Amino acid sequence: MRAISRVAIAGAGTMGYSLAQAFARFGYDVTLYDLFPAALEKAKGLIALNQSTEVESGKLTAEESAALQQRITFTAEINDLKACDFLLEAILEKLEVKHNFYRQVCEIMAPDAILCSNTSGLSITAIAEAVSNPERFAGMHWINPPHIIPLVEIIKGEKTADETAEAVRELCLKLKKKPVVVKDAPSFVLNRIQQAILREALYIVDEGIASPEAVDDVMKYALGFRYAAFGPFETCDLGGLDIHCNISHYTFPDLCDAKAPFGLLKECVDNGKLGVKSGAGFYDYSDGKDEEIIRRRDTMFNKLAKCLFEEE
Ligand SMILES: NC(=O)c1ccc[n+]([C@@H]2O[C@H](COP(=O)([O-])OP(=O)(O)OC[C@H]3O[C@@H](n4cnc5c(N)ncnc54)[C@H](O)[C@@H]3O)[C@@H](O)[C@H]2O)c1
Repeated sequence: MRAISRVAIAGAGTMGYSLAQAFARFGYDVTLYDLFPAALEKAKGLIALNQSTEVESGKLTAEESAALQQRITFTAEINDLKACDFLLEAILEKLEVKHNFYRQVCEIMAPDAILCSNTSGLSITAIAEAVSNPERFAGMHWINPPHIIPLVEIIKGEKTADETAEAVRELCLKLKKKPVVVKDAPSFVLNRIQQAILREALYIVDEGIASPEAVDDVMKYALGFRYAAFGPFETCDLGGLDIHCNISHYTFPDLCDAKAPFGLLKECVDNGKLGVKSGAGFYDYSDGKDEEIIRRRDTMFNKLAKCLFEEE
């Protein structure tokens, strides 16, 4: 397979600007592409913000961080992706938008360049319909913020070659990430679990059982704390399977089984409250609170990663 030295990241939004740092950290030259120059400007500022937190966290020196940022170039010109040997696409999560993008990019990039989608859960086989030589295409699903979170899900579509999946896995290891190969099922593994939690959290709020703040505290001070070190199967083993089986008997019938977004999530989205990126979501992020929470998130996650994985 083609050696990878210049990486293209398409989409400079929530994922793209952080992905650019994940690759540049390990010496790759990165071309960060977006349709909109304003998105690239915003990405530049957010990369600087993340990098100041990385330096404060002691993960790299100020000089190393400056060199990392030098390795990232920003462009709104799709033809600039021509010289790249590897593409990670993180654009809008709509199949037709992704299809249009891949049709264009396949005209420009080398026919043996590996192409990956960071889709949260669209079918890799379906996206591949717009990719020429689809054996070189795979899913590479990173978790926000990807310059810190270790996991990457690798997804083989029906036409993905074993060599492509293996090359993507090896690339993850070079980036000091934890690759997990999963099946091309809707939303793969992480988002199936995350969506199950989100649906129940929304239902709890909708039913008046607890407030969003209380639900967040339950996750942070117990479930998230446990799950940072042990998965659900290990947790069950530690607690006793008989206990969990009993609880399942009387709880499963009462859990939410909604088939579409509802409640507070739908209300927020209908009103343009999209979270940190739009200045408000379930909580308020006006007056600098957006940068404040990004900085706090990065600091906390770096401390957690140090505590959990330092000895590995
Ligand atoms: N946000 C997350 O937590 C998260 C996590 C994992 C995966 N993803 C996936 O990553 C992808 C990007 O998500 P995001 O949250 O960064 O979205 P976002 O809305 O924050 O950013 C998307 C960016 O893509 C750009 N864009 C849209 N269409 C484009 C095109 N045709 N060509 C070039 N640029 C284009 C937009 O201008 C925008 O800057 C989606 O597929 C999403 O499902 C998101």
